Amino acid sequence: HIFGYPAEIAALEALGLPIVEDACEALGAIDAEGVTVGGRANPAVFGFYPNKQLTTGEGGMVCVSDAATKARIDSERNQGRAPDMGWLDHDRLGFNYRLSEIACALGRAQLERLDELLASRARVAALYREGLSELAVEQGMGLPCEDRGAERRGWFVFVVQIPTGRDRDGVVRGLRERGIDSKPYLPAIHLMSFYRERFAHRDGEFPVCEDVAARSLALPFYPELSDGDVTRVTEALTEILQTVPV
Ligand SMILES: Cc1ncc(COP(=O)(O)O)c(C=O)c1O
Repeated sequence: HIFGYPAEIAALEALGLPIVEDACEALGAIDAEGVTVGGRANPAVFGFYPNKQLTTGEGGMVCVSDAATKARIDSERNQGRAPDMGWLDHDRLGFNYRLSEIACALGRAQLERLDELLASRARVAALYREGLSELAVEQGMGLPCEDRGAERRGWFVFVVQIPTGRDRDGVVRGLRERGIDSKPYLPAIHLMSFYRERFAHRDGEFPVCEDVAARSLALPFYPELSDGDVTRVTEALTEILQTVPV
């Protein structure tokens, strides 16, 4: 569920393979069948790092649909202890993946504001979409895909596609010179140095992915962005795209 966009899990389920859903970026998203992401009975993981829709500082959440899996995960994240916390009864190999009480308190306070936080993100996304619509039509800049049918994105980032042939890194520099941070996001994973070195991946193996990654740019995105902030970013982007060389 990358960028908070609900993946087509129903189509994957039809293949009959076991599925673990990475919903780290998609808290609050709803899929095409109207099911909240994480609610399809496949194990689903959510991340609560500070850039996420809801944060506990670090850590996350696993959603499962049966009591036995929950009991196993509860134990494994708690050093393999028995559910009753019998101190010396480690009946399986476990780890310390416990979320601290302080982190949980932060998360619970955020949870009370979740609807408001999601709505604010959706508001900022709508402002960007409106502010960038001319660039999309006139310069061919790609905007995030629209929700289809029952789908609802759980807005995580606002990523645009710089028009083909334009210097994306030049756009990043231009924004930085105007005091606006942006990030080339996401890079193609197979071209990261670890995967290149370990598995000998090279440019050209996945041309569609590489083209999308080379043109992707994440704009400033958080619930408190004001209308004026968004206008500043969209005007800067428009100005830069008129001057950055082809
Ligand atoms: C799609 C996705 N998967 C996994 C992760 C990893 O989450 P964590 O570092 O909390 O395990 C993230 C967070 O950055 C993410 O965005």
